[in-house]
Amino acid sequence: MTRLLFTGASGFLGFNFLNLFAHQYEIIGTCLTNTPPEGQARCVRLDLADQSQVRAFFREFEPQAVIHAAALSNPNECQKRPELSRAVNLDATAFLAQLCADQGLPLVFTSTDLVFDGEAAPYQEADPPNPISLYGEHKALAEAEVLARHPGAAVCRMPLMYGPSGPVNPSFLNFMLKAVAEGRELKLFTDEWRTPVSGADGARGLALALTLIMEQGACGLLHLGGTERLSRYAFGEILRRVLGRPDMALSPCLRSDVPMPAPRARDVSLDSGKARALGYAPSTVEEELGRQFAGGIEVAEASGS
Ligand SMILES: NC(=O)c1ccc[n+]([C@@H]2O[C@H](COP(=O)([O-])OP(=O)(O)OC[C@H]3O[C@@H](n4cnc5c(N)ncnc54)[C@H](OP(=O)(O)O)[C@@H]3O)[C@@H](O)[C@H]2O)c1
Repeated sequence: MTRLLFTGASGFLGFNFLNLFAHQYEIIGTCLTNTPPEGQARCVRLDLADQSQVRAFFREFEPQAVIHAAALSNPNECQKRPELSRAVNLDATAFLAQLCADQGLPLVFTSTDLVFDGEAAPYQEADPPNPISLYGEHKALAEAEVLARHPGAAVCRMPLMYGPSGPVNPSFLNFMLKAVAEGRELKLFTDEWRTPVSGADGARGLALALTLIMEQGACGLLHLGGTERLSRYAFGEILRRVLGRPDMALSPCLRSDVPMPAPRARDVSLDSGKARALGYAPSTVEEELGRQFAGGIEVAEASGS
């Protein structure tokens, strides 16, 4: 079994990856302030911004492959705390890539669709990044560092993800379900589009990228978007249909109605044809939500989705 370092095991994607792959790899997860649910996988506290800690971790655990999913992942937080965003999203990623390159370790780095400006979707891997937020800028710079230091690495651009999560990092679906449960109106953007996937499909995409590196020696840029271009409002309409809740109140709104610290890109939909040709097969939102809510909304809430 490959000894796999998964950074950010206590995060949303970590929860989904560990759920699916804890039996396929010997996973050593890392976390910073939170912990993954009891029994999911072995997890060690590690501040990736502290290079001496990272070096010591590699000496102690001798990972054979790395998936790097730890990040300051909230664009508004990054905008408000630019130094922390640079330290975690850029500098720590570059250092990790160098360590992996020096030791010949396969590396999968999770980047984002927000490296694009949103004015020329759908985006293919060859399209040039042009981020409009600090989060996107630090991720785009990190991508370049990873590929320069470790050309065989995979740089997976993740889309908006939703679905079951651990207790600490819910996805936007949780906020929608909470509003439904409380009978509140949901205000959702009609002028922002992405290609969402479930956290489980995103995790499968990362495993695919790792397999490619291990079998073929390299992967490069890989878009892991979903099959549909959707606004949050359209997502809400699918949820309402799947839940069979015509009483669910959706209210259309625009990005300009909700000022936020980080600028929001209009349409960062990804063309994920390359990944699909390699076997990536994400479900549609309707299929995924249908499975998730087959037992009704109460079951889904009880399981923490
Ligand atoms: N979720 C999405 O919709 C989405 C979309 C596009 C791209 N992405 C990318 O996908 C990856 C995973 O995202 P996610 O949603 O799982 O993020 P998340 O839920 O916010 O989790 C972030 C993880 O990073 C860890 N972390 C933060 N700062 C750290 C530090 N200095 N040292 C060590 N660990 C640190 C956190 O640890 P603690 O919680 O223990 O503090 C947590 O485990 C990220 O690279 C993100 O940029 C996510």
